[in-house]
Amino acid sequence: MARVIVLDPLSKEGLDLLQSSGQIEVEVRTGLKGKELHDALLEFDGAICRSGVKITAAALEGNRRLKAIARAGVGVDNIDTEAATRQGIVVMNTPGGNTISTAEHTIALMLALSRNIHPAYQSLIEGRWDRKQFTGTQLAGKTLGIIGLGRIGQAVAVRALALEMKVLGYDPFLSAHRAKELGIKMFSSPRELLPHVHYLTVHTPLTDETRNLIGTDEIRAMRQGVRLINCARGGIYNEAALVEGLKSGHLGGVALDVYENEPPSNCPLFGMPNVLCTPHLGASTKEAQSNVAVEAAELLIDFFTTGAIRQSVNMAPLDPKALEGLRGYLDLSYRLGLFLAQVDRAMPVACKLRYRGEICKKDTRLLSAAFAAGLLEHAMESPVNIVNAEVLLKERGIELVEERTSDVGDFSSMITAEVVSEDRTALASGTLFGNNMPRLVQKADCRLESYLDGTLLVFHHRDVPGVIGQVGNIFGRHQINIAQMSVGRGTNQPGGAAIGVLALDATPPAEALAEMLAVPGVTSATIVKLPPAGALPPWLRA
Ligand code: NAD
Ligand code: MLT
Repeated sequence: MARVIVLDPLSKEGLDLLQSSGQIEVEVRTGLKGKELHDALLEFDGAICRSGVKITAAALEGNRRLKAIARAGVGVDNIDTEAATRQGIVVMNTPGGNTISTAEHTIALMLALSRNIHPAYQSLIEGRWDRKQFTGTQLAGKTLGIIGLGRIGQAVAVRALALEMKVLGYDPFLSAHRAKELGIKMFSSPRELLPHVHYLTVHTPLTDETRNLIGTDEIRAMRQGVRLINCARGGIYNEAALVEGLKSGHLGGVALDVYENEPPSNCPLFGMPNVLCTPHLGASTKEAQSNVAVEAAELLIDFFTTGAIRQSVNMAPLDPKALEGLRGYLDLSYRLGLFLAQVDRAMPVACKLRYRGEICKKDTRLLSAAFAAGLLEHAMESPVNIVNAEVLLKERGIELVEERTSDVGDFSSMITAEVVSEDRTALASGTLFGNNMPRLVQKADCRLESYLDGTLLVFHHRDVPGVIGQVGNIFGRHQINIAQMSVGRGTNQPGGAAIGVLALDATPPAEALAEMLAVPGVTSATIVKLPPAGALPPWLRA
């Protein structure tokens, strides 16, 4: 019989389900860390947790018994999924179960801030009857900005619209069609949205791109008196900038459920006027906890009784035979997705994958899923893999279309990916050199031949003498080594639009990019980060 350890407090419904399955022996041991946690895990086949326990690489080291971890909740940021994957441990999560509760908590914080609920009650406790000081503002007729319109962001939008608010949004992966259905006016960057809102709420994962998404400059770009809410992850708002914004009076209020450090030891916002804070309570309702605990218990019961893997964030149940001979192209497709997600930011309505040559004989459906996994990888809270990527695209109203031509073109096999948005199409084509060397061979209408790994700098420029020399000088001055360089132009005539891709040995500083943009003829410069040569995504590693 499989043994399962429960590492964080879990609702009774989940525990009862595990115990009554008759297939699993359950032990509850909460509050474990360090060596105690490491040693405890050695005795179990499965584990269930919430966000309290930290399942680090050290906690899993040398563990040959543990096979599955179920996270009762969305974020798996407390589990080292890379380490788990390396050790063949399936990590599963329960993303939908706490959506409504977290959306309701967001609305509760927005209402409480607007009507001064907490300081008003405090004043009563202190013996005052002060009605004038706590005059609030109505939500109806006000504008709410939502950054991140996945499950929770959309649920907040629906509720805000019911409160007669106007809702504006930004999410690079929500189609305009879906936004229209929901009644949300979309913007193509947070900066464009910020000046219009009375309230701002964020519902993105914490990633390199969303960390400090709202800092001093962004706060200044908003109207005086704006109120900010964060029920997603600490660090999306820069806490020091929030303090500054409150002190200057530019911010009318801040409500936080999540913090840069949790539990926060010395949060500078605590005790400031117009601040309302809760201790990560978004998902803390009876209903949400019951939903996620039951779902997590079901995942483990199915896993241990039938071998089924559902909602896995790190494993793709791929047939080893299908994988054979496809690994290099899966990696190429995934890298094209990562590349286009970074180089052309626009809200997609469709992704088109064209397969040409020998590759058409393979299972191209898997290749399209690998592309989608790359495209969404940095945008989702839960890890994206070849299994869940297509579903995630569909949920966002983004169509995935495949075309196949068996005629061999310039290469024996070529994959062309197009990300189509309302006003433009971003295109990149790639091929494999040898069995495992992905190369970019076309970007927009420019043919080139560039690496698809490490740090790339993609720049648009006019094809005139001197530009490339000046670019090379800038990187030389900044001590950034150029490992490879490729330039391509759309027509065969000089003087027109061209694209350059530099493979760099380090990430250039902002000053180098600014200097590049000052070179006459250079119109854009974008850094694209890809995995190192030969590194496969976690879901593809053997
Ligand atoms: P989700 O994956 O369904 O949605 C995330 C959305 O963010 C996606 O639509 C994605 O396209 C968008 N996004 C990613 N990067 C972006 C960027 N740079 N700018 C704008 N949008 C971007 O996730 P979800 O279930 O809605 O969860 C949202 C957040 O809420 C997560 O951080 C999650 O951990 C957190 N959460 C907190 C609580 C709580 O207790 N406070 C409970 C549940 C979830
Ligand atoms: C989540 O990621 O599900 C939420 O932050 C809630 C939790 O951690 O329990």
